[in-house]
Amino acid sequence: MSDALDFLVKTRPEAMTHYFSFLKDCGKHLDPKTRDLISVITKVHSQTERGFRQYLNRALRDGCSPAEVLDALLMAFPALGLAKIVWAVDIILAMDLPQFQPAELGAEGEWHDVMAAAELEPGGVTRVDCDGRGLFVHHVVHNTESVWQVFDSRCPHQTTNIPHLALDGTTLTCPKHQWAFDVRSGQCTAKGDTPLKRWDSRVVDGRLQARW
Ligand code: FES
Repeated sequence: MSDALDFLVKTRPEAMTHYFSFLKDCGKHLDPKTRDLISVITKVHSQTERGFRQYLNRALRDGCSPAEVLDALLMAFPALGLAKIVWAVDIILAMDLPQFQPAELGAEGEWHDVMAAAELEPGGVTRVDCDGRGLFVHHVVHNTESVWQVFDSRCPHQTTNIPHLALDGTTLTCPKHQWAFDVRSGQCTAKGDTPLKRWDSRVVDGRLQARW
C-alpha cells in the first residue's frame, strides 16, 4: 500500500474501510487470476509503479503466466495506448523477473558461462554471479553421472535477491519473509508455495553453462 493510502487509512478509517470493501465486493465473482490481471492493468493505467510491481508479483504468484500478463497489457491497448504499455514493459525488464526472460516466452535463450565444473564437489552448493544474475548451483552424482541444478537467486515471493549468507546446508531461507527452499530441488519447504526458478544447464568442455 502506498504511503498516501496508509495516511488516509489512519486519518479517515471509516471512509477508507468502505472504499476497500467496495473494491473487494466488486471482484467477488472473478477468479483470482482475472482479478489480479485487472488490478495490474489499473496500475498501468494510473502509472503507479509501486502498485504495478506489487500486483504483477501477486499475479505471477497466483499462477498467471508471463504470456497472460503480456496478453492483458496488449488487450488493454485501446485504454492504455502504446506509451503506457511500453512504460509497463520497461518496469518488467528492470525487475529482471526470471519468468520474463526471452527463453521463457518461446524465444531462443542464450547459454551463459557459469563456472568450471571442477570447482564444485559432488554434494556441494554455491552462489555465483553470472552476467548480472545471481545463481545457486547444486551438484550431485547419481550412479556415476553428474547432475547439476542451477536456480535463480531471486525469491519467487517478492523477487528479493537472496544472498549467500541465507544458505544453511541445503536450505535457503529468504531474509525478507522467511520463505525456505531446498536447493537440491528448488522446492519451497516453508512459509510459501512457489519453487525457485530453475534454469536449463549443461557442461561443455568442463564448463558449467546455464541458459536464460
Ligand atoms: S521476498 Fe518474501 S520471502 Fe522472499
